Amino acid sequence: PIPVIIDCDTGIDDALALLLAVRHPGLDLRAVTCVAGNTDVDGVVRNTLTVLEQAGAPEIPVARGAERPLIEAVRTARHVHGHDGMGDLGLPAPARTPADVDAVTLLRREILASPRPVTLIPTAPATNIALLLRTHPEVTRNIERIVFMGGAAAVGNATPVAEFNVWHDPEAAAILLTAGVPITMYGLDVFRRVIVPGPDVRRLRASAEPGTRLAGELLAHRGPATGETDPGGGLGDAGAVCAVADPEGLITHRLPVEVSLAPGPSRGQTIVDRRARPGESELHEGTREQPLVDVALDVDVARYVKLYLAAVER
Ligand code: BDR
Ligand code: CA
Repeated sequence: PIPVIIDCDTGIDDALALLLAVRHPGLDLRAVTCVAGNTDVDGVVRNTLTVLEQAGAPEIPVARGAERPLIEAVRTARHVHGHDGMGDLGLPAPARTPADVDAVTLLRREILASPRPVTLIPTAPATNIALLLRTHPEVTRNIERIVFMGGAAAVGNATPVAEFNVWHDPEAAAILLTAGVPITMYGLDVFRRVIVPGPDVRRLRASAEPGTRLAGELLAHRGPATGETDPGGGLGDAGAVCAVADPEGLITHRLPVEVSLAPGPSRGQTIVDRRARPGESELHEGTREQPLVDVALDVDVARYVKLYLAAVER
């Protein structure tokens, strides 16, 4: 299996991502690190520990990371993820506490200890990853790829042009993008599209198995508020984990990407250069400020829904 580490702000859809990473036979989840984002970092740690216990994986190391972005103040998304940051489902408190090392230390240790290069899957503001890259740059020698949920080539969500994770810590996202390792941007252009149909969500919710049932509850909570009688639920961050387990389901284009760091309405935008180069399909050349990134522009929705259901109902 592919060694992976998830850096998250659990988070309804981060929880869906954790469930998939624990249960997919092709993935080996080696550690989980937590950062402030959807809710405060202590809430994220609690939610993460609870999800791993419900998933039947209480032994995976979990560490607490940054409690605020590099420069900005914390701006949580409780309006989306509920007061506890995970849908206020009334889940039990976790039985254990996090590791006694911080996220950066755990990330360094697990990356360098892995016999095979690790794929990092950040599904949150990139604060921990930026601190890791600046503190221990040698880790890049054992990173296969970073597949991160964040950014948007087209429309944003936190602002008209900026996606939440990048908007929450734009400087950190810029450091991540310029890490010098292969990067896949699983942004809003595909993030919103992968929706599990209503009947499948109902089946998951009716399961007697705690992890499967939790996936159903979380998906039901994410159902679009459109007044549909049987809405499905979006996979959100879990799509980035699908992209690692099954990269063929994603259509990416290798394009220059730059994070807007300027104050004002564009701050946190991922500016993706999609301009055609006459006569050449891949003439783009990255620069230090505008590295080449594999930007996800299309996704095989049915394939990822099938992959998700097969793994969490296993
Ligand atoms: C991202 O923001 C968070 O609220 C979600 O968990 C996801 O990682 C989407 O913009
Ligand atoms: Ca997230």
